[in-house]
Amino acid sequence: MINFEGKVAIVTGSGAGLGRCHALELARRGAKVVVNDLGGSVDGSGGSSDAALAVVEEIKKAGGEAIANGASVSDRKGAESIVKDAMDAYGRVDILINNAGILRDKSFAKVSLDDFELVLSVHLLGSVYCSKAVWPVMREQGYGRIVMTTSSSGLYGNFGQSNYGAAKLGLVGFMNTLKLEGASKNIHVNTIAPIAGTRMTENLGFPEEVFKSLKPELVTPAVLFLCHEDAPTGTIVEAGAGYYAKVQVVEGKGVKLGGDATLESFTENWEKISDMSEATPFNNGAEVFIKLATAE
Ligand code: NAI
Repeated sequence: MINFEGKVAIVTGSGAGLGRCHALELARRGAKVVVNDLGGSVDGSGGSSDAALAVVEEIKKAGGEAIANGASVSDRKGAESIVKDAMDAYGRVDILINNAGILRDKSFAKVSLDDFELVLSVHLLGSVYCSKAVWPVMREQGYGRIVMTTSSSGLYGNFGQSNYGAAKLGLVGFMNTLKLEGASKNIHVNTIAPIAGTRMTENLGFPEEVFKSLKPELVTPAVLFLCHEDAPTGTIVEAGAGYYAKVQVVEGKGVKLGGDATLESFTENWEKISDMSEATPFNNGAEVFIKLATAE
């Protein structure tokens, strides 16, 4: 059995849904877990520590070790308190799973900027605040695993989710740089794109059998792979209903039109410019620069 003995993990938003499954499975495999959850509703209103406490009880009953934290990840001090609680209780943090999230769905024409900012602050800034709080700890340890939670909504778009999609793809950009900056200290940073039947998706109109097949437990193996000692870094995995696939941003071969490029030459070459048949990924922005500088 692949185990997490001796590891300390923080899972944000793990009082319910996907986070709860990640927390239970990490604990079952030997990790000590900090179960963080604000305990609010899907739209982020309200809050209580009950959700986190209930999962801690579940873990303890099954023979595992866990503590609860009821702070909001979108509050800087709250995020710091999650890491502090982990350090006070267990003295280290090996794993951070940035999972907490809310929805404020409305078409862009109708969404208020307050709702837009709130969604960005929980998903994107919440992940930033928790990562920022844990980063010095992981650097000092020379070990760390961080998992971001994106969504097909951010990767590809979804009607009514401009706020959520912007936040979710922002997390991929965040990962792309953390993976580079964490490499020398053995900090690996990956991203999960889950699809699961939880309270967040219960009103999306999935037929009942489909909803049931989207068990959140089936996302957890991918998440645990992405935060294990042998995890890759900078990798995005889509996971749902037992389907798993790596996701990557790729760039077409491109065309060098040179210093004389004009709107007309660009237009004439659009077919070649937009040809994705020889698309490749890049590990960092500098590689793209080298490609364009050396293209013939
Ligand atoms: P969920 O609503 O069951 O769980 C989210 C948890 O986050 C809740 O327990 C909630 O109390 C907690 N939370 C919300 N705001 C918080 C805050 N400020 N601080 C701390 N905790 C907070 O939803 P689900 O489906 O389990 O979602 C988990 C993550 O997966 C989210 O980031 C979500 O956007 C993402 N996701 C889920 C998909 C799905 O199909 N269920 C699809 C794509 C992404």
